[in-house]
Amino acid sequence: MSLLLVKQAVGEKAATLIKNGMIVGLGTGSTANCFIDSLILRCRREKLSIQAVASSHQSADRAAKGGIEILDINEAPRIDITVDGADEIDPLKRMIKGGGGAHVREKILAAASREMVVIVDESKLVPQIGVGKLPVEILYYGSPATRLKIENLGLKGMWRMTEEDSLFITENGNVLFDISFDSPPPFPEEIHEELLHIPGVIDTGFFFGLAGRVLVGYLDGRIEIRD
Ligand code: A5P
Repeated sequence: MSLLLVKQAVGEKAATLIKNGMIVGLGTGSTANCFIDSLILRCRREKLSIQAVASSHQSADRAAKGGIEILDINEAPRIDITVDGADEIDPLKRMIKGGGGAHVREKILAAASREMVVIVDESKLVPQIGVGKLPVEILYYGSPATRLKIENLGLKGMWRMTEEDSLFITENGNVLFDISFDSPPPFPEEIHEELLHIPGVIDTGFFFGLAGRVLVGYLDGRIEIRD
């Protein structure tokens, strides 16, 4: 089974968790896209009436094109269920997100939801998070000073750039500093707290205590549901 088929399978499985009348939070990324596509199909086939809140323009556009009503987050303070992917997830359901640069909005949706359902393929499973990069969203104003403060904590990283080699700007109008660890940090919560204390840091891509059910798709076709 290809990785795309695995993502489609977990997306389809997650779509079965959606009930008529729900307000659904839409994550961002290739796996979230598979969920959105399955949700569109399910709504059409079963005449489900749902509303959605999206963590990015990309996800909002995709869902709206499929006929799903999109609400402004400021009109929907409570969300029934959010379905989203992850870049890394450990056995304690701690995650790193933000590979697509949408983690601040994704976290707001997850925190506003009764449940965040995480959909991943097996390549996202790690024994400890911090194998890949940790995105940190930073206010552009004073960003070199903010970067220095981060580096003074002993952390290394790079500004995220676009393919055209200009600074990547998030949908919130901010920049991203992608931190690389020499090895996964044993206490990521401490690093998260230290980073949040730096003026100019909006949020990190660490997600703690937010994941509800985790649907893991395997290349052999199995889907494991971790409660
Ligand atoms: C978007 O900013 C991210 O948090 C994504 O949820 C994460 O990068 C997973 O994306 P894929 O499903 O494309 O791997």
